[in-house]
Amino acid sequence: MIKKWWQDSIVYQIYPKSFQDSNGDGIGDIKGIINRLDYLKDLGINVIWICPIYKSPMVDHGYDISDYYDIDPSFGNMKDMELLLKESEKRGIKILMDLVINHTSDKHIWFEKAMEDLDSKYADYYIIKQGKADTPPNNWRSIFGGSAWEKIADTNKYYLHLFTKGQPDLNWENKEMRNELYKMVNYWLEKGLGGFRVDAIAHIKKDFSYINLPSDGPDGLVDAWEYYRNAKGIEVFLDELKERTFKIYDSMTVGETDVKESDRLVDFIGENGCFSTVFDFCHVTYHINDDEWKNNPIEMVNEIRDKLFEKQLNSIEYGFLSNFIENHDLPRSTNRFIPENEIGFYSESMLATVYFFLRGIPFIYQGQEIGMMDFPKKSIDEFLDLATYQNYKAYLGKGFTEDEALKKINIECREHSRTPFQWSHDKNSGFTTGTPWFEINPNYKYINMKDQEDKEYSLLTYYKRLVKLRKSEEYKEVFIYGDFIPIFKEYDGIIAYERKDDKQRILIINNCVNKTSTIEIKENIKKTLLNNYEEILLDKENIKLLPYQSIVLEIN
Ligand code: NOJ
Ligand code: CA
Repeated sequence: MIKKWWQDSIVYQIYPKSFQDSNGDGIGDIKGIINRLDYLKDLGINVIWICPIYKSPMVDHGYDISDYYDIDPSFGNMKDMELLLKESEKRGIKILMDLVINHTSDKHIWFEKAMEDLDSKYADYYIIKQGKADTPPNNWRSIFGGSAWEKIADTNKYYLHLFTKGQPDLNWENKEMRNELYKMVNYWLEKGLGGFRVDAIAHIKKDFSYINLPSDGPDGLVDAWEYYRNAKGIEVFLDELKERTFKIYDSMTVGETDVKESDRLVDFIGENGCFSTVFDFCHVTYHINDDEWKNNPIEMVNEIRDKLFEKQLNSIEYGFLSNFIENHDLPRSTNRFIPENEIGFYSESMLATVYFFLRGIPFIYQGQEIGMMDFPKKSIDEFLDLATYQNYKAYLGKGFTEDEALKKINIECREHSRTPFQWSHDKNSGFTTGTPWFEINPNYKYINMKDQEDKEYSLLTYYKRLVKLRKSEEYKEVFIYGDFIPIFKEYDGIIAYERKDDKQRILIINNCVNKTSTIEIKENIKKTLLNNYEEILLDKENIKLLPYQSIVLEIN
């Protein structure tokens, strides 16, 4: 295996709007990030991924870019960005920006010119097709709900938007457009970025080999995933992108794509693959409040474990997956995986331990390290995200009452992870001196960074211990490059695995449910590297794991 600088990354994801405001306008900004770099350094991470900060009308909170070469004024300016790069560098931290190149904003100059003149070269930068009679070119549903096509005024033509209508999809078949993108990517890499998290990249290739498909819902539309997710031929575009940009700068790239067929992984994360790594999404559809799992947390744990292990084993020969339990598109991990009355230090630190030592790159999403939680709303009007409203409307369309639809949204919506960071129990949680753009979870009074930073048994301190162990000189080789071996699969509710190389053997054992479990361990325990309880109840060859206990042991 060729060794690369990014293989020892521990990434911290920042949702900039909600991280730290520096000027009292209620919106997090780049200067705010700079002010918190010492906090991140102290946490121990060495890479930061920042969600989009380019100029944007913010229809999708920055994932709709109107100028790739500029910073949105709400976040600061190019000088701030350059300072951020410099200050991060000083602290040994690399920055990844979010690269959104499946679509632009409808306020991007290319799209505006395209709309002005449908015969201009810019019209072919987008996907514009003739409607049929008075209906869109086909019945694809947008990923955010409703038709994926928007009618262009005074014509019978439509443009494609797989996300909101403010995010027209780019036409990757157009070479000139691709060249423009590569130029822009290199402009940023020249500035000294570590690389990119590459947004929605699975969708850049579309397969238009059909007209309509049988509908899968009352709206007459269809989620046509196989026609626009990692569609055949995408590798050609991805390779060109890599060759013309990332490769030149030895960048770290994290593809936002779920590669379902393991035999295709080689093209994505193999030594000659187009990305350094891609996310492992195997757990994102699980929620403890779903009817299927509500009374059955053990079954849920077993099922997630099997999927996780399958992904680990399938990827190991090709490269590295990126492992995470939270991001800005999901509710908070505690609410997703832990029954409400069992959320606390033990269950939270267990969740962290489960994924942190898997083979691959660990990601921490802002606030996860202090146990930030979902903030359910009393009315749909309190939400801000278009995708939330679309999902709500879709539930009403399926016959749910308003109360039922709100309940669903309160369980599954991504806005839970977007509430402002809870820095302290002071006014507005120390996030802003002004009015926060999005309501702060009132639990900041008792869940906040300040109250945890110097405590021996806080979640924040536990995360620091995790990070320290994973990057310690003594063990980092085995955690990065070691083998992955599933263990104790015969025990319900336990997620355990071994990491192993020529020199060391480490067991990571997690009791993921609220009951004690006794496991038989034959190996000789050399050292306890981590434990979220104060002691390990060991009786000859039996370890009695307490509810939500996690231990990391070196054996020989
Ligand atoms: C994935 C991003 O993570 C999400 O927040 C965004 O809405 C879509 N891509 C569209 O860019
Ligand atoms: Ca601000």
